[in-house]
Amino acid sequence: MKGRSILLLAALPAALFLLPVVYAQNNPSVAQVAFKVVDGNKVDSNTLQGWKTWRALACERCHGAQQQGMVGPSLIDAFKTLDKEEFHRTVFGGRVAKGMPDFSSSQMMQKNWENLYAYLKGRSDGQIKPGDLHAIDSQ
Ligand code: HEC
Repeated sequence: MKGRSILLLAALPAALFLLPVVYAQNNPSVAQVAFKVVDGNKVDSNTLQGWKTWRALACERCHGAQQQGMVGPSLIDAFKTLDKEEFHRTVFGGRVAKGMPDFSSSQMMQKNWENLYAYLKGRSDGQIKPGDLHAIDSQ
C-alpha cells in the first residue's frame, strides 16, 4: 500500500507534464501557436510584434493592462478556450453591439493578428509575464 502511493506520487508530475503536449497534439488550434519565451519577458520577434499590436491598439482600455478584464472580459480566462478562428472572427468584425470594436481596418491588426493570438495565449497560460516585453536576443 505504502509502496503504491509513492509510485503514484512519482507518476503525477510526469502526467501533468505530458498533459499539455497531448492536448496540443489533439487540438490543431493549440498546436499552431508557436511562441518562444525566456525569463517570462523575452520573446521571439513575432510574439513581440503581437504585444506591440496589443499596445498600439490599446486593447488594455477595456481588457486591462494585464488582460485581467475590465469593461471587456478577462482574456486570461477567454484564451483557455478561445481558438484562433474564433479570435479572428472577434477581432475582424468585432461584437460591436456588445462593446467590442471592429479592428478589421487596422493594418497593424491585419499583419499581426496571429502574433497577437500567440502573445495572448502565452499570457493566458502564464508563460509570458504581464508588462513590457523584449526581444530574446536583447539584454
Ligand atoms: C472599447 C472596449 C474594448 C476594446 C478597446 C477592446 N475590446 Fe475586446 N471586448 C470588449 C467587450 C465588451 C467584449 C465582450 C463582448 C461580448 O460580450 O461578447 C470583448 C470581447 C473580446 C474577445 C472575446 C472574448 C471571449 O470571451 O470570447 C476578445 C478575444 C477580445 N475582446 C480581444 C480584444 C483585442 C485583441 C483588443 C485590442 C485589439 C480588444 N479586444 C479591444 C471590449 C473591448
